[in-house]
Amino acid sequence: MKFFIDTADIKEIKDLAATGMVDGVTTNPSLAAKSGKKFVDLIAEICAIVPGPVSAEVTALDFDTMMKEAAVLRKIAKNVTIKVPLTPDGLKTCKALSDDGTMVNVTLCFSPAQALLAAKAGASFISPFVGRLDDVGQDGMELIDDICTIYGNYGFNTEVLVASIRHPMHIVEAAKIGAHVATMPPATLRQLFNHPLTDKGLKAFMDDWAKTGQSIL
Ligand code: E4P
Repeated sequence: MKFFIDTADIKEIKDLAATGMVDGVTTNPSLAAKSGKKFVDLIAEICAIVPGPVSAEVTALDFDTMMKEAAVLRKIAKNVTIKVPLTPDGLKTCKALSDDGTMVNVTLCFSPAQALLAAKAGASFISPFVGRLDDVGQDGMELIDDICTIYGNYGFNTEVLVASIRHPMHIVEAAKIGAHVATMPPATLRQLFNHPLTDKGLKAFMDDWAKTGQSIL
């Protein structure tokens, strides 16, 4: 399973990229707004840190303007993935860009039917939002299961990019289903490293080692 981080915070991206666990980055207009940086500069900065796919979202709602925005964004770096919303114009843009060899991430997916449309439009990634579904009392992980089954039935190449992740179990459940990618907040990636028994066990080993008075070096 590939791990993307869902942030526009450059410091976080640098820190986590150094762990070797970051395969890509996703951003959205809300995260970009929070960064306070000029969007094109922000994406260029992220692309220089992480060589994997970096999602940059168009902000127009109509096909023509989405295409114009995508032309600007894809010039920034080879690893830019154009992110489009799951709307008729967004999918039309997805089809045109993917026919042209550009990676596209279709975002704001909340149903298996929408995911099927994105795959037919040639999306490189579909982003189903599990946390936001859980928030309204619908099982987000059931959507991941449905999409993986449907894509498997027809051999679609679109990768299932599990988004709106809230905690480590979302990642574990998505991995058990076989989703290709999980995009997570930096704090959730950090949580994956932790277990209290690891800390406890390490402390006991270090205490016993100290009693020997030895040093390996
Ligand atoms: C994915 O690309 C989205 O940016 C993100 O996962 C949304 O997460 P949220 O529901 O926590 O805002």
